[in-house]
Amino acid sequence: MSGRPPTSHERRAGAPWDASYAGGPAPWDTGEPQPVVVRLAREGGFAGAVLDAGCGTGENALHIAARGLRVIGVDVAETAISIAREKAEQRGVPAAFEVGDALHLGGVFDTVLDCGLFHTFDDDERREYVASLASVTRPGGHLYLLCFRDAEPKGPHPVSEDELRTAFAQGWRIVSLDPERVDTRFGRAAAWLGEHGLLAEAVRHALTAGDWCYASRLVVHQLAIGQVLALTEARLPGELVRLTPADVRGLPLHSLDPESALVAAAAALRRGEEPACAKALELADRLLGELPHEEADRIARCRLSHAVIRMARDRCRDPQAARAAAADTEEMPGTTVALKRPFSRVCRCW
Ligand SMILES: C[S@@+](CC[C@H](N)C(=O)[O-])C[C@H]1O[C@@H](n2cnc3c(N)ncnc32)[C@H](O)[C@@H]1O
Repeated sequence: MSGRPPTSHERRAGAPWDASYAGGPAPWDTGEPQPVVVRLAREGGFAGAVLDAGCGTGENALHIAARGLRVIGVDVAETAISIAREKAEQRGVPAAFEVGDALHLGGVFDTVLDCGLFHTFDDDERREYVASLASVTRPGGHLYLLCFRDAEPKGPHPVSEDELRTAFAQGWRIVSLDPERVDTRFGRAAAWLGEHGLLAEAVRHALTAGDWCYASRLVVHQLAIGQVLALTEARLPGELVRLTPADVRGLPLHSLDPESALVAAAAALRRGEEPACAKALELADRLLGELPHEEADRIARCRLSHAVIRMARDRCRDPQAARAAAADTEEMPGTTVALKRPFSRVCRCW
């Protein structure tokens, strides 16, 4: 991260962007250009010199360059840029890729593409980024920006129409602002976000992917059941409380794993459905009894969640049982804890 301060995203994730590309493809890296970029390219949306800001491993830039346009991709992640360069060489596509900070762009371009970068910035960075974009976009040039939308299901950095309009209020004219489908691998995105400590985002992605089991494992293994129960500050998505495993996966409770049963129990309790909570707790108990001893850490985390749910359930109606449940929690061993976006076409005013 030579010579630049970490971005707000990097501070939150506790790692530089480059780390996203270290252990195999990042979740947004589908290995193909985004369908909307393919469509725009086909319709002649890209013209003249093209900049792909935050290009990642370059699939979009390579697709546009393969159609005969002069394209340069810029990204802060050195690993992503070296992968993009390799792809360009292997495919014989003359796209250029450079390590660079989109907050301080250089050059002059007729068309700029932002596929998933704007929404990673906080408000201050967005202001800086929009000024940086304006400084390199030829008057009359176009910027195509693809970002997460603030509609359900929400991506990690949902952006509202108002936010977009405000960000580009001066010096730009919004030509169109449309909902758009974006290819991602939500399941894998969840895994990646979970590994990077972004629990709420990871759970949201898992739910979007219809993977209640994975969402539940994240919650239980990261000792976040208190959030489902509203015992601690909730950052987890509200769907977790509103939905049941059957809503998400179309599967009956008995076919799930202990973590799923535990989260279903906590969610039922939050909704005030005590019988459903009791049934799910019983199931979790049985499933836990079937886990092999080698999975001691998993069992401990599940038992802790089980105890916390009982504690929450019993604290009003039976203080003694609540104390017993609390005692259970004290015996737990210490443990370590571990993307549809709208497409807006923005035309720079002159
Ligand atoms: C969500 S990824 C999208 C990557 C690529 N556009 C795609 O669609 O596959 C966001 C990208 O922006 C890059 N990035 C983040 N902050 C940046 C900055 N200040 N300047 C340039 N690139 C940045 C990240 O390294 C990452 O590759």
